[in-house]
Amino acid sequence: MNKEIVTNRTFMNRKDPSTLDQLSIEELAAKLEPDLLPKHIAIIMDGNGRWAEPRNLPRIAGHREGIKSVREMITVCLELGIHALTIYAFSQENWNRPVQEISSLMGLLEYYLSTERSKLIEQGVRLRTIGRLDSLPSSALQWVRAAEQETAHLDKLHLTIALSYSGRTELVDAVRELLHDAQEGKLQPDDVDESRIQRYLYTHDLPDPDLLIRTSGETRISNFLLWQLAYTELYFTPTLWPDFRRRELLLALLEYQRRERRFGRVLSAMSS
Ligand code: IPE
Ligand code: IPE
Ligand code: MG
Repeated sequence: MNKEIVTNRTFMNRKDPSTLDQLSIEELAAKLEPDLLPKHIAIIMDGNGRWAEPRNLPRIAGHREGIKSVREMITVCLELGIHALTIYAFSQENWNRPVQEISSLMGLLEYYLSTERSKLIEQGVRLRTIGRLDSLPSSALQWVRAAEQETAHLDKLHLTIALSYSGRTELVDAVRELLHDAQEGKLQPDDVDESRIQRYLYTHDLPDPDLLIRTSGETRISNFLLWQLAYTELYFTPTLWPDFRRRELLLALLEYQRRERRFGRVLSAMSS
């Protein structure tokens, strides 16, 4: 009568000491297979405001804490030999936020670029940005351009910061530029194929992301890299961005390594 009815669900809910949750950071890192790591990780860094709220802190405190997560992502990518990291820092839609939050965010961007510059250079990080940057305040834009120039010769990690970015706008800009070139006779309609369009994107010299991480429990793309994410593995976690540190990244990478990337094919045909 007291016998426990074991369903899949109760079975799954039991605390299993072998689950990844129980493992230390070192044990998690040891489980990574170097050959199966993503070459390019994209991150939608979300949940800064919700991190600050229960602490009775202003939203900007969450954004500030989020910078520590950015630093840690850069360090872990460098350690693991992951060559490209693209982070969504500010969307074009984010211009619709209260003026005060926008100006704090722009101030934080300047602070990050001014204080982090020498460390990025030391680490061999090339920093670039994507988005309609002409909307940025001129002082922020100057810091961005200076950081891009000063790191242009580096290539250990390609760090791309999406700022005032919109995936649809990126496609609009690509089509415009392509039509200009067509008008000048540089290409014909039949020349347009996927690789040609890729060459007109802001990300023309980056491979498509292998893994997209979005923090904070939202399961949407929010206008990020619409073209590039066609076959990217998506990883959603409830962890808020300021709490997303080394351990959470390792968990995401281990989950990525469990996935079968089929690209529309059947598995038996993949090796042929
Ligand atoms: C992400 O955190 C950072 C930006 C969009 C600039 P949010 O500011 O969106 O934080 P939540 O989602 O409101 O918690
Ligand atoms: C997406 O987060 C943009 C960035 C992380 C920069 P948002 O918080 O702006 O996205 P929504 O509004 O939840 O879709
Ligand atoms: Mg948000």
